[in-house]
Amino acid sequence: MNSKFKEYAIYQIYPKSFQDTNSDGFGDLEGVIKRLPLLAKLGIDMIWLSPFYKSHQYDNGYDVDDYKSIDPRYGDFEVFDRLVAEAKKYNIGIMLDMVFNHTSIHHEWFQESLKGNKKYQDYYIWKDEEEITNWESKFGGSAWEYCEELDKYYLHLYHPNQADLNWKNPQVRNEFSDVLRFWMDKGVKGFRFDVINVTTKPDVYEDDHIGDGRRFYTDGPQLMGWMHEIYDKAGFDESIVTVAELSSTSIENSNKYTNPKNGIFSMAFNFHHLKVDYVDGNKWTVTDMDWNDFFTLIDEWQRKAEEQDGWSAWFLNNHDQPRAVSRFGNPEKYHYESATALATLTHLMRGTPYVYQGEEIGMTNPDYESIDDYEDYESTNYYKILVENGTSEEDALKAINFKSRDNSRAPLRWDDSEYGGFSDVEPWIGVNKDKSINYMDAINDKHSVFYHYQDLIRLRKEHKAIAYGSYKSLYFDDKVYIFERAYEDEKLVVLINVSEEEYELSDTIKETIKDGNIISNNYSNFNFSKLAPYQAVVVSI
Ligand code: NOJ
Repeated sequence: MNSKFKEYAIYQIYPKSFQDTNSDGFGDLEGVIKRLPLLAKLGIDMIWLSPFYKSHQYDNGYDVDDYKSIDPRYGDFEVFDRLVAEAKKYNIGIMLDMVFNHTSIHHEWFQESLKGNKKYQDYYIWKDEEEITNWESKFGGSAWEYCEELDKYYLHLYHPNQADLNWKNPQVRNEFSDVLRFWMDKGVKGFRFDVINVTTKPDVYEDDHIGDGRRFYTDGPQLMGWMHEIYDKAGFDESIVTVAELSSTSIENSNKYTNPKNGIFSMAFNFHHLKVDYVDGNKWTVTDMDWNDFFTLIDEWQRKAEEQDGWSAWFLNNHDQPRAVSRFGNPEKYHYESATALATLTHLMRGTPYVYQGEEIGMTNPDYESIDDYEDYESTNYYKILVENGTSEEDALKAINFKSRDNSRAPLRWDDSEYGGFSDVEPWIGVNKDKSINYMDAINDKHSVFYHYQDLIRLRKEHKAIAYGSYKSLYFDDKVYIFERAYEDEKLVVLINVSEEEYELSDTIKETIKDGNIISNNYSNFNFSKLAPYQAVVVSI
């Protein structure tokens, strides 16, 4: 396997919220082309585009109607081909999102199955009433939906209009090879596989009396063989970069899937580090992060990935997460410092860093004032569930404000105009009212968060220890994380203070770094003994 992706910084675009160029209030692919020069300036190597295929938008495109199409609201094949060609000029590859666990119920296959076509009925998971289980959908409520036409239920682990596919059917897997080939022929250089490890449904469906059902369908043993088969038929080559989105996985599985010897993905996203601020497994809670738990967890993931030759995709932001600077930092008092400290953390860990649109200027949660401002099904459905279960409307809104996926789906703020330079008409979802965090200001200020990201991405190419080095924790507690990355004769010590207090380093650490050179620092100085609030320093020793 080609390991060049270890040197990459990958940038995620959520097309619907990135840049509108045809004044319909939705972002589009032309908008991505328009902003390529800025992304090239940032230094990224690949763009992962969230889905832009034909879709009824129940889940913003993750409900795919046709895998080999472009929804007219985003553009057409002419624009797409131009995007691939333009990006190539900047040495930027295009990665597409493959949502293969489910299709929309408007997909032709599902529609055919409704008409009684047996071939396509076997593409999905249909059960009679007495066979269905108590499994829950990840978006709340039952994972089974009744269908009058067939007097049967179909499985949907996500939105009721996202029907799970039957991967046991070889014809379904052939369809995926065909889709991959189609996009590779269009010059696509990478694929992100949406919730790929929940495709392994069991042979026997049974109730789950201790959980929501996930233990029966997550990380099944067939996945490795299936993916190899799909790639072989698609004619994959070494240069294709793949990233798996792994739902509730284990370290061992993540490393097995990404091991270059027999693995199936270049790298994998896991979400355990972003669940540290859940209370008793409940996402809809508002609490402070326990940094000690966070560091314990990412330390273990990095150590074991190295031992087991796996590779992680690291991120604190994406289209399913609230803005990290609002969640883990302090945007009011330490906006620049906390945004850049979180960036240094993500980019210096052992793995490939992902940047989600707007994080490179430190975008914050939009703090919508009413539940009616939210579009996301998961958020609005959980709001209902919370209120039905006795949470006050005010507290329910607080939880949604803090954790909703729409926090990151608010349009990218390019400037300080009413619609943020995203569009000249009212966008499909509200723009962040705080005009002060916008791209144009960031570009014009040499000391902005943007330039810290640019530096981190450049450093990755200059210091092999960042992309290829070993990892060792030197110290962590609930305020600081100090670790080492080493490659051949270079050693980097990364020191990150995630607290709002000054932090005096121990004598051992001082001794370790005393003759080093600072290669990254989000403050103008560092005296080798004390870290300021949210200070993040990388010292080459
Ligand atoms: C994970 C995607 O990231 C998320 O946005 C989507 O809702 C689910 N998978 C279902 O496709």
